[in-house]
Amino acid sequence: MRSHYCGQVNESFITQEVTLCGWVHRRRDHGGVIFIDLRDRTGLVQVVIDPDTEQAFALAEKVRTEYVLKITGKVRNRPEGTENPEMPTGMIEVLGKELDILNAAETPPFQLDDETVNEEHRLRYRYIDLRRPLMQERFQMRAKANNILRNYLDEKGFLEIETPMLTKATPEGARDYLVPSRTHEGDFFALPQSPQLFKQLLMMSGMDRYYQIVRCFRDEDLRADRQPEFTQLDIEMSFTDEDELRGIMENMIRHLFKQVLDVELPNPFPTMPYAEAMQRFGSDKPDMRNPLEIQDVAHLLQDIEFKVFAAPAKDPNGRVAAMKVPQGSKKLSRKQIDEYTKFVSIYGAKGLAYIKVNDVSKGREGLQSPILKFLPDDAVDGIVKLTAAEDGDLIFFGADKTKVVNEALGALRLKLGEDLELNEDGWKPLWVVDFPMFEWSDSDKRWESLHHPFTSPDVDVSALEADPKACLSRAYDMVLNGSEIGGGSIRIHKPEMQAAVFKLLGIGDEEAREKFGFLLDALKYGCPPHGGIAFGLDRLVTLMSGASSIRDVIAFPKTQTASCLLTSAPSAASDAQLRELNIKLRPRIKESKETEA
Ligand code: AMO
Ligand code: AMP
Repeated sequence: MRSHYCGQVNESFITQEVTLCGWVHRRRDHGGVIFIDLRDRTGLVQVVIDPDTEQAFALAEKVRTEYVLKITGKVRNRPEGTENPEMPTGMIEVLGKELDILNAAETPPFQLDDETVNEEHRLRYRYIDLRRPLMQERFQMRAKANNILRNYLDEKGFLEIETPMLTKATPEGARDYLVPSRTHEGDFFALPQSPQLFKQLLMMSGMDRYYQIVRCFRDEDLRADRQPEFTQLDIEMSFTDEDELRGIMENMIRHLFKQVLDVELPNPFPTMPYAEAMQRFGSDKPDMRNPLEIQDVAHLLQDIEFKVFAAPAKDPNGRVAAMKVPQGSKKLSRKQIDEYTKFVSIYGAKGLAYIKVNDVSKGREGLQSPILKFLPDDAVDGIVKLTAAEDGDLIFFGADKTKVVNEALGALRLKLGEDLELNEDGWKPLWVVDFPMFEWSDSDKRWESLHHPFTSPDVDVSALEADPKACLSRAYDMVLNGSEIGGGSIRIHKPEMQAAVFKLLGIGDEEAREKFGFLLDALKYGCPPHGGIAFGLDRLVTLMSGASSIRDVIAFPKTQTASCLLTSAPSAASDAQLRELNIKLRPRIKESKETEA
């Protein structure tokens, strides 16, 4: 239908005839001449229609924004003084000879260049939103990234293999999406939270190296970087160890950034143990662009009167920590400090003590703080020395259970980084390693896997059983600018170890058989040592494209409440469908559906 794309036409086409198809981005009437900016996924080109071409002109007069046109005409230089060097096609225009209206369009619900449109409206009319040049660029980047990753993995001998969507629950820590079975009355499939078990089975099947760009489903509380269905680049390999696997994966990501963004990431990526990340940054996915650090001060405060600090300082599960904000006492007003106090309360912090350092040389007299009166001289001295505070700095404190302090100061660190524009530019990847195998769940009173139950510990069964708390796993996360873009591990490949881990997690023999019998069996019939990783592709592309939300790199994303505004999914099933599935809705649900209808 067309000879070229709009965005391709440049000075090298002068005097040539081209046929272009696309949408009317803008139409302007200029004293008897009509200008149309025609748009397709490659960009915009200016078309001029003058009254000499009568038929085309008559049609052009009818044309409105978002009409779909086919235009044939000759490429010429723009008249002197009207060039636009900012645009790839800005030196030329097309003198339109023939114009076809392929489709008329009603006035669109919003203008493509209107930056103020709310997201709900954009999602409802997603096909219009996706026409915006910025969205077109993001999806082209995403497709390019997929292609580069596939080629890289193909070249390294990874086979792309599909795994089932209708399957059994995979424990990745979220709720399952269930699908009722018609042929097995009362039974349900689960949509995969990840292909974890299948990719391990593929290693036991001798496939050696596997990958898949695969949809995963998790019914969990949504945040800006989470979607209920999202895409993983899922990878597994046999006869390998952490060093080899991480090396290949790092190279892949470096190659991707070089190809797509022309960015050189560091080689190798730095590596940090989990414990250090939590201690220095209060997070297992530290943003290394941010210069602020958290420091333990409990040892200076154990014996003081001030209970707010002394109690957690003595508690083995407590933490008292300081975070110095350089020049913070100059930059932050009392009101801002109050706002930050409110901010940390979201994470359970009961307060946010601080010391303003006005003049270090004056000792105590040079400091200003509501808690100064509670702190003895040696504690104050110790804090100033430890944090190496200088005139004008401000020191924040968190004192509580370790989890609360890490979350509160970790989040405050990120917020201050943004608010005070402290973050360095650029890309700061790292590996976080040496995770604990288990985490104690206070609510459920049992151990939980920090990753998933198929992750190998770095010790043998007897050491694991002797002290599960102290045991580290062979897991690794790849973190980029404060976002966990990938996570994986070396797996358990022996049935005894898998059984021991299930047992520690409180999964009894019967339950283990029922849920994972196929895995336990497969481990008995010749399982190679293996390991892998999964990258969150949506998150990776969000970062690479500079988008502010994961929804901006997913063509048809779900809202925060996991619904699709475009199609109105989820929606009620008909009585006939429910009967066929032998499903009866509880009355409360049924009634509310009826009143909605
Ligand atoms: P994990 O659960 O860490 O590991 O997931 C791997 C990566 O997937 C991304 N991710 C998400 N992205 C968007 N929305 C979500 N709801 C979401 N949940 C996770 C993250 C994360 O790092 N089977 C293991 C991998 C393995 O061990 O090989 C797994 O799924 O970027
Ligand atoms: P209070 O004695 O509760 O009035 O608190 C005195 C100061 O300590 C205030 O600045 C509080 O914000 C701060 N504070 C109270 N509890 C904590 C806590 N758990 N962690 C850090 N600061 C706290």
